[in-house]
Amino acid sequence: MAGSGFWLLVHVVGILGFVLGLILNHLMPLFLRNIEPVPKGTFGWPLLGETLGFLKPHPSNSLGNFLLHHCSRYGKVFKSHLFLSPTVVSCDEELNYFILQNEGKLFECSYPKPIHGILGKSSMLVAVGETHKRLRNVALSLLTITKSKPDFLTDIETTAISILHSWKHTNQLIFTEEARKFTFNVIVKQVLGLAPDDPQTIQILEDFLTFMRGLISLPLYIPGTPYAKAVQARSRICSTVKAIIEERRRRNVAENSFRKRCDFLETLLGVDSLSEGEKVSFVLDSLLGGYETTSLLLTMVVSFLSHSPSALQRLKAEHQSIRTVKQKDDRLNWEDYKKMEFTQNVINEALRYGNIVKFVHRKALKDVKFRDHLIPCGWKVLPVFSAVHLDPSLHASSLQFHPWRWERQDQMLKKSFTPFGGGSRCCPGSELAKVEVAFFLHHLVQTFRWRTEEDDLPTAYPYVEFKRGLVLYLEPLAHT
Ligand code: HEM
Repeated sequence: MAGSGFWLLVHVVGILGFVLGLILNHLMPLFLRNIEPVPKGTFGWPLLGETLGFLKPHPSNSLGNFLLHHCSRYGKVFKSHLFLSPTVVSCDEELNYFILQNEGKLFECSYPKPIHGILGKSSMLVAVGETHKRLRNVALSLLTITKSKPDFLTDIETTAISILHSWKHTNQLIFTEEARKFTFNVIVKQVLGLAPDDPQTIQILEDFLTFMRGLISLPLYIPGTPYAKAVQARSRICSTVKAIIEERRRRNVAENSFRKRCDFLETLLGVDSLSEGEKVSFVLDSLLGGYETTSLLLTMVVSFLSHSPSALQRLKAEHQSIRTVKQKDDRLNWEDYKKMEFTQNVINEALRYGNIVKFVHRKALKDVKFRDHLIPCGWKVLPVFSAVHLDPSLHASSLQFHPWRWERQDQMLKKSFTPFGGGSRCCPGSELAKVEVAFFLHHLVQTFRWRTEEDDLPTAYPYVEFKRGLVLYLEPLAHT
């Protein structure tokens, strides 16, 4: 009896221990999740969730119906089901900042799988952890070296002048095409040292356009689909870039490296910490990162200025005063760039108001508690920058284009302005983009007057496009 009592006790203790373990391991987190629930919201349809509503086009200087509706119903942080995953959407300044600052610790960059298929596994845009760190360090040092080279600014200015020169006998054009030509020619020259009329530039541009179309297409790898064409275009660009690398190596040996060029590629060739594939990916990342976004920024500035005569007048005065102390053919330098203060305000305002990058993709690496919410491990997390940029409690008269707001310096330090992202993935090309836009504007405002259509405005698809490509009606200024 004593024996059976003993075994009964053992069993009871055993069962109690098991139940306790079960509670601690499984039920307690559920219990805790009840105290810190996931944010409110709905998952929508099975599988697709609310993705279609989230992606529905709207003017890029507005929140769009989906975010307006969800924020007013559930608050600035809500749950949804997007891109095939349970998701926390954040339109909250503090949470967005927290997500960007905790990259690699609590959150990680997580673009949809088909994007990886097109960009390739060595792309910095999708790499994480140590690989990302290594690629990024090389990118930052390459950019610093490139910027310090004497031809850096001159090449950008020459490209701007040549585009404007080609408009001499035109009174109407589609500006998005011209802006793309400009930023593509700049980036190809900076990275590969190629001139606009070089056959390799033309080949890369053609493949690149196919590549870009695939990035925003349905990810079906069936011959003939934009996605399949993009994957093939990528491999052709890789072959062209590899051929350029080989040619450059051969030439350097033949010329005994006496007449070294001063582009990105020359420096990249000397980097030992990257494999050949990584070097090619690197070139592709620079073209991808530096082409469409910068041309969009330029297009937005030109569009917003056409609706804001007082800002245009002030900008023009700034550039004229820079020109008056220079000889006619003198080129712009860093000192001149530093004097373009109002231009910087216009650029910042276009970035805030126009929202080139509406949101970025992240996922939670562990259960994260933020305020009263739980962001469960493995869920997708989308910090929406546009919602913060257009929040009237953070930017007064947020739905107006008002460059003067940036005259108050503290605006720049705020967490409420993140057009280039933040933290350890912050855009390495932000300054290049701004210099390109500032230099183009310097010559544009002194050469032409322009007019646009009232309704030719930027639309977020969510990738931003202008309805009719921004048609410009041009009039040359008297002295040109
Ligand atoms: C107006 C122009 C631009 C905008 C609005 C922009 C925006 C951004 C944003 C928001 C990110 C962060 C993405 C993320 O966190 O997932 C980013 C990253 C990046 N951008 Fe830009 N960008 C611009 C111009 C450029 C230029 C000119 C270059 C190239 C020279 C460039 C190259 C890159 C690269 C390589 C990354 C990845 C950085 C990393 O993951 O560490 N971007 N950009």
